[in-house]
Amino acid sequence: MRKALLVAAAGALVLAVLAGVAYVYVTTRDAVQVRATGRSGLALTKARASRDRGEYLYQTAARCAACHARDLGGDFVLRSELVGTLWGPNLTRGNPSVGATYGTADFERAIRRGLRPDGMRLLMMPSLDYAAMSDDDVASIIAYIRAAPAIERPVPPFRLGVVGRLMLLTGRLSFDSDRIPDTIPPGADPSGGLYPARIAGCLRCHGATGPAPLPASVDRGTFATVLDTGRDRNGRAISDHAVPSRPWRDADVDVLFHCFQSAVRSGSPAGC
Ligand code: HEC
Ligand code: HEC
Repeated sequence: MRKALLVAAAGALVLAVLAGVAYVYVTTRDAVQVRATGRSGLALTKARASRDRGEYLYQTAARCAACHARDLGGDFVLRSELVGTLWGPNLTRGNPSVGATYGTADFERAIRRGLRPDGMRLLMMPSLDYAAMSDDDVASIIAYIRAAPAIERPVPPFRLGVVGRLMLLTGRLSFDSDRIPDTIPPGADPSGGLYPARIAGCLRCHGATGPAPLPASVDRGTFATVLDTGRDRNGRAISDHAVPSRPWRDADVDVLFHCFQSAVRSGSPAGC
């Protein structure tokens, strides 16, 4: 009798889990397919583009390389059976669906608004951090991407596992395009300490609602080493920090250092 009850309970549990998984799959099936109608892309005809600045932003200060690879040929952003497989696309001319066909306005919209030309939203592309990037900086990144040698690399198919779908349902995996307020004018370039911290995504993790704590107070030299090596003051790798292929520039380190010091002093990232 007890055994029968146990079997029945186990059966009910399995059914409940299956129903839960089915629910998650059904409710997220269409979520990835939604098309947004954000503003169209901008041609940036008045912007001053510098390939050198673009390279620095791509490789270091805007951390594009962390997801699209140092050679711009694309890399895994998610690679897990349970969470899913997502590829930071190849941006070079070697990719027929991006580099070979995207115009400036298409790149601009993808970077600052998180949307493909057809209106599909880009998953995990951190456009919220780039929404207020200056016209000159976006144009510089685009010029750098355009000039990069073509790379051809096989692309693993996009797949979301059950955990990835749960994260999508609970907002832990999201489309930045849904969160970019129309009130951020393109090319807003907020002056002061926030700009480098925002486009580098520091505030995404260390900000008021971010998952990372405000780091301990360190001297400027250590701070610069942390940024350039991706290791903390004790030499331990910080898995959330990308290791840039080009060193951070002094002017940006100064601004970020000042921003973090005042945030640590006031105990609030808003002090940045
Ligand atoms: C945290 C990882 C991450 C970072 C950092 C990142 N991207 Fe992306 N990006 C992605 C992913 C993932 C996609 C594809 C999303 C999808 O397919 O839904 C994407 C898509 C794009 C696209 C659209 C490609 C297409 O298939 O239409 C462009 C262009 C792009 N990124 C450029 C950049 C640039 C330039 C930077 C730096 C300023 C950057 N990205 C930083 C992850 C990232
Ligand atoms: C993807 C999330 C993420 C981003 C983006 C990020 N950090 Fe961090 N950072 C972390 C985590 C996690 C730690 C480790 C926190 C801990 O355990 O003390 C850390 C640690 C640090 C430390 C402390 C090192 C030490 O010795 O204690 C500093 C300084 C720091 N980050 C600065 C920055 C700056 C500046 C930026 C932007 C350029 C940045 N971080 C971007 C997640 C992030």
